[in-house]
Amino acid sequence: MRIIVGITGASGSLYAYSLIRALHQLNVETFVIPTEMGRKVMKFECGIDVDTLKQYATVLDNSDLFSAVASGSVKTEGMVIVPCSMNSLGAIANGVGDTLMSRAASVVLKEQRKLIVVPREAPLHLIHLENMVKLSKSGAMIMPASPGFYHRPKEIWELVNFIVARILDAFDIDHSLLARWRETPITQ
Ligand SMILES: Cc1cc2nc3c(=O)[nH]c(=O)nc-3n(C[C@H](O)[C@H](O)[C@H](O)COP(=O)(O)O)c2cc1C
Repeated sequence: MRIIVGITGASGSLYAYSLIRALHQLNVETFVIPTEMGRKVMKFECGIDVDTLKQYATVLDNSDLFSAVASGSVKTEGMVIVPCSMNSLGAIANGVGDTLMSRAASVVLKEQRKLIVVPREAPLHLIHLENMVKLSKSGAMIMPASPGFYHRPKEIWELVNFIVARILDAFDIDHSLLARWRETPITQ
């Protein structure tokens, strides 16, 4: 199984970091495409240099439109963009493919593979919402970076894993990141 992970300059790069580590542990071949702001925000929020992710995945150059994942002839299960900025969301929703990240997303859509977009912004204006509707109508799954609290998280990683688990579920990847709702009794 092959999955592409786009990392953009929205807040929440910890989601991407945790997902890439989980995919590695689950033996999923992973290609990471960080935007320039994706790199900067990960460094700022997590103190992590994206290039250190090379121990878990293949990290691609966002300006390299000759990369294999820029072509539909290269088979992948799909792509998740996490976190997804409103800038990148707008580009993809409107068919822009001038970076490897946006081109790979466009390829995944045209080949009718799975595209999961994890947008992060608050509040949202009409253009953000319309772009999400466009993507949804084109076959993408919109999975907002808004973790639930019904599993009573005590630590940040439990909130982060809530979203990572939903992404893995969407790709049908078995994992044991979190107990599922009502799988284990909740005691006060
Ligand atoms: C610390 C930081 C946090 C940001 N958080 C968000 C965010 O949550 N959502 C968003 O749409 N943009 C956010 N931005 C702005 C984007 O980084 C900016 O729009 C950028 O152009 C996105 O580029 P990209 O889509 O190529 O990654 C943030 C910027 C910084 C510096």
